[in-house]
Amino acid sequence: MEHPGTQYAQKGKLPMDPAPRKPRILLAACGCVAAFKFAKICEIFCDWAEVKAVATPASLRFFNTASLPKNVYLYTDEHERLFWRKVGDKMLHIELCRWADLMVIAPLSANTLAKIAGGMCDNLLTCIVRAWDYNKPMLIALDVHTFTWRNPFTEKHLMSVDELGVNFIPGSDTMAEPSEIHSSVIGVLQSRPLPLN
Ligand SMILES: Cc1cc2nc3c(=O)[nH]c(=O)nc-3n(C[C@H](O)[C@H](O)[C@H](O)COP(=O)(O)O)c2cc1C
Repeated sequence: MEHPGTQYAQKGKLPMDPAPRKPRILLAACGCVAAFKFAKICEIFCDWAEVKAVATPASLRFFNTASLPKNVYLYTDEHERLFWRKVGDKMLHIELCRWADLMVIAPLSANTLAKIAGGMCDNLLTCIVRAWDYNKPMLIALDVHTFTWRNPFTEKHLMSVDELGVNFIPGSDTMAEPSEIHSSVIGVLQSRPLPLN
């Protein structure tokens, strides 16, 4: 995808204005089998966006953090703990909410889905979601076993997050493929262009 700044410059309009910045995308991973695809997901967005990543403690068992692209900084609960030292210091989850234009949780676990649906916030990822401004897009790609999928809580929790305005990315069996996640984000951005200034 062409960087929006290129189009803007080519039109030759408002030459005094700086080119718009790149979209800022926050990607998050939960403790699911499909977390091994997280590096690939980061990689495809890096082509045209600034990317930061968040991982739950459970997710770190499912992917190799060294496999992420070098320009993608990975934040964990440990960073949240170290970021804040005294009253008046900034909180990492709030700063990441401010920074991001759009958030994608892929893979999303049944556990974190339930926490989001219930408004719980006991780690960096769920604190970001709990503080999120839903005027900005958030997309989720669930990765659960078929038995978990069939359990009535899944539909209940998906309905709750749908009410928040979260976009669900369907997968054919488990999590949608990285290319499908990318296409879903492009689709959302086409209907809700970002204010890139
Ligand atoms: C081997 C193994 C595989 C798992 N795979 C999944 C999975 O694909 N999806 C899921 O929702 N939970 C899965 N779980 C359970 C989650 O890892 C567990 O609920 C964890 O607490 C999720 O934490 P998080 O939501 O903070 O990332 C798996 C657990 C184990 C031990």
